[in-house]
Parts: sequence; structure tokens; C-alpha cells
Amino acid sequence: RSVGTGRAHAKLILLGEHAVVYGAPALALPVPQLSITASAGFSTRGGEPAGVSFTMTGSAWKQVETQASEGLRRLTTDFRASMGIDDARHLDVIIDGSIPLGRGLGSSAACARAVVLALFDLCGREVSERTTFELVQTAENVMHGKASGVDAVTVGATAPLLFQAGEARTPDVGCDALFVVADSGTVGSTKEAVDKLRESFRRHAGTQERFVRQASDLTREAVAALAAGEPAALGSLMTEYHGLLRDGGLSTDRIEAMVGAALAAGSLGAKITGGGLGGCVLALTQPERAREVTQRLHEAGAAQTWIVPLRRLVTHA
Ligand code: PMV
Repeated sequence: RSVGTGRAHAKLILLGEHAVVYGAPALALPVPQLSITASAGFSTRGGEPAGVSFTMTGSAWKQVETQASEGLRRLTTDFRASMGIDDARHLDVIIDGSIPLGRGLGSSAACARAVVLALFDLCGREVSERTTFELVQTAENVMHGKASGVDAVTVGATAPLLFQAGEARTPDVGCDALFVVADSGTVGSTKEAVDKLRESFRRHAGTQERFVRQASDLTREAVAALAAGEPAALGSLMTEYHGLLRDGGLSTDRIEAMVGAALAAGSLGAKITGGGLGGCVLALTQPERAREVTQRLHEAGAAQTWIVPLRRLVTHA
């Protein structure tokens, strides 16, 4: 094969981000409408030294090219070693996609998964989910320190997931509602957010245990509300979870304005999603309020918004 291709999509964390790093459960959703594709080929350019070149297209990607490619480079080295690829051959990988970076939507994990799939496809080899997960985690750990793995699994999932300590299962979904995802327009560094929280836990005795306990309780209650078809209860739990993240210092003025605007417009619940310190707000709403919620989020500073229907994610599976 002369070109291998791979694709992965974005993800949203409904509840459980940050606590999942400490072994708590997290509820996550795949977002099929935002994705990244990678194409890999052996270089045809003469005199290219053995190794790998990444070309990222799309303006948003340019600024982080070097940072993102560090993890991808490590992943590719592990791939070469495991496949016994002749060191003299250079790899060219082209990455393109619609997932905005650093917004808590799993762009780095999606990018890594697309590259893994493209590399195996290039070699005409099947790859197991376990190997894919491990290679994506290699890149994630370079980028983020120690990643929980929730992003690595969800960017390849076809249904909502309950993830805990490396294991994922599909929760029951008994209700329909819409999620409005609103981009604050600012990049939040997941690594910085995870480090900030860890440092705050270190300085204040007992806070880590309390955060993990409260977060786990809210996530478990959300799993029950989702299964029982109670979107209003699910929404309140999301807003409560936002309170935990805000108290942990992970919100920003713009995020607070956006969460407030979504709630004032009749959302059932609203919160940061993902690492925080910027990134996106996730609001749960009944379909008839979606227009109003979206408009108010834009007025509060959202740079762009997307609608993710819960039901479609389930039937997508
Ligand atoms: O910001 P994102 O999309 O990378 O989400 C990361 C989720 C965290 O729980 C904050 C980190 C992790 O490793 O699970």
C-alpha cells in the first residue's frame, strides 16, 4: 500500500474530568461530527533522513505543530520498533481536521489515534484496540504528563462511555436531550490544569480525597439519571460538577459568563468540559431551548458552538 489513512473523532466529558486521573469514574461522549484524518506514506523525497515528518494543515494547527508532534514522534518510534520497519525509510504523515485544539475536545488523542490507524493501514496490518490505546497513550503521556486514558478510548468509541481505571463500559441511555458545546475561544492547557489541581491538593490536606469522593458520587448519580431518563437531574449534576471544577481553580471569567448565560437561557445544566482553564462549555438543554441557549452563549463570548444530540450518539453505535 502506498498511502495509509486513519480517522478519529472528538470527545466530550459529561462528568468526571480531573477526578478520573485519580481513579474516579468519568462519563464521556464521542462527537462524530468533529474529526481528524491522517494519511501516512513512505517518503518519495530523495535524501530524506530516516525518521518522520508531520505536516499539519488548517490554520489552528500551525501554532502547536512542534508541541503536538513531540508525542506523535514518540508514538511513531514505538510503532517502527514493534513493526521492525527498516530504519532507512522516512515516513511522511499529513494531518488535517476540524477539532479545535486545546479546547477539552480531545484533539491530541484524536490526532494520535488517526496517526496510529494510518501507520498500520500503510503496512496493511490489522491493529487491536489494546495496541491502538497503548500507542495513543504514549503520545498523550508526552503531551499531558500522566493521562487517565479516557480521551484515548472515547476518540474511537461509537457510543457514550463510563470509563474508570483503564476500563470502559457503555452506560444505559434512557433520555433524549441536546448538548450545546460552546468554545470560549481560548486554549486551556490540560497539563497545566492537571498540575495546578495536584499542587493545590498537595498544599491542602484532605482536599484530594474530598474532591475525588464528591466527583465520584456526582458521576455515579449522573449514570443513574441517564439510565432513568431524567435529563433535569442530569443537568443539575453537571452544574454541581462545574462547581467542583471552579472551586479547584479551573474556570475563567469567560467560562463563568458562558455557564451563567446558558443557565439563564434555560439550560438544564452547564459546565466546563475537559481540562479547563479555557476550552469549552457544555450545556444540556431540551430541544426547544437550544436556539436561545446557543444565542446567549454567543452573546457571552462563545467563538463557535456545536449541537450534539444525545440520541444520535446512541443510535450511531
Ligand atoms: O482537556 P482534555 O480534552 O485533554 O481532557 C482531559 C481530561 C482530564 O481528566 C483533565 C485529564 C485526563 O487525563 O483524564
